[in-house]
Amino acid sequence: MFYYRRMPLERLTDRVVIVTGAASGIGRATATRVAAEGANVLACDVTPDLLAEAVEEANKTAAGGEVVGRVVDVSDEQQTADAIADAVGRWGRIDGLANIAGILRSGRTHETDLATWNRILAVNATGTFLMCRAALPHLVASRGSIVNASSTSTYFGHPWMAAYAASKGAIHSFTQTLAVEYCKDGVRVNAIAPGSVHSGITSTVQFPDDLTKEEGKLVRRIMSPTGFGNPEDVAGVVAMLLSDDARHITGETIRIDGGTHA
Ligand SMILES: NC(=O)c1ccc[n+]([C@@H]2O[C@H](COP(=O)([O-])OP(=O)(O)OC[C@H]3O[C@@H](n4cnc5c(N)ncnc54)[C@H](O)[C@@H]3O)[C@@H](O)[C@H]2O)c1
Repeated sequence: MFYYRRMPLERLTDRVVIVTGAASGIGRATATRVAAEGANVLACDVTPDLLAEAVEEANKTAAGGEVVGRVVDVSDEQQTADAIADAVGRWGRIDGLANIAGILRSGRTHETDLATWNRILAVNATGTFLMCRAALPHLVASRGSIVNASSTSTYFGHPWMAAYAASKGAIHSFTQTLAVEYCKDGVRVNAIAPGSVHSGITSTVQFPDDLTKEEGKLVRRIMSPTGFGNPEDVAGVVAMLLSDDARHITGETIRIDGGTHA
């Protein structure tokens, strides 16, 4: 809480922002951060109990707006349309969309079943598309902004995460495409590429337990040389991208990975 009180930034006063994946990790920190910068927030997630906790926490530091929780599975076409309609019905507009929801299952690619592959693509890539598609008419009206969650796996091989990496690469390309397609409408579309950030996802990653020494090196290669960051380290960048401070940034994917790529 003190962290936000030190920062008198209120770049999102009177804005309406939708955040997915808001029950945990980076999405939760983002909902709290954009509320602390003045926004009204529709906090969406598929996990009701954790979402209720996150909403309560975010409302404690909200700076003038309100944070409302909504249970949404982003891979469901109707639920995404209903979430956007909910925000517009409540506040009359949408200025920002942060697509942070995501899932990761790790394992050897030749042992990955089709249902796992399809579910990861459905939540990460299709979910991002569905939220954007439903929100875009409103973002065109407000000349708003989108931030999508990509990953460092977009840039170099992350072994034992093929479906996840494929979904994040799709988000990277999708982001660039939307950025040029909607630039004439004044809608900015950017992505973040986190790496080595403490969260639900990173706490459950499991690599095969029979790794060779050489394979162990591949795992270390995807870890930040400066250690793990916190979700708040990413949330501040998302808030910046949603704000007018980023008015000349679109089509960009910003790495927030503690120097993993260096
Ligand atoms: N933590 C990292 O180091 C890291 C690195 C690269 C990318 N990312 C990306 O950041 C995003 C946030 O992940 P995180 O690290 O905070 O993990 P997290 O597991 O803590 O949070 C993910 C959230 O998404 C929600 N979610 C999952 N499926 C959903 C669905 N179908 N509909 C709605 N919500 C759903 C989960 O309930 C959870 O609250 C993800 O897209 C992830 O791929 C994280």
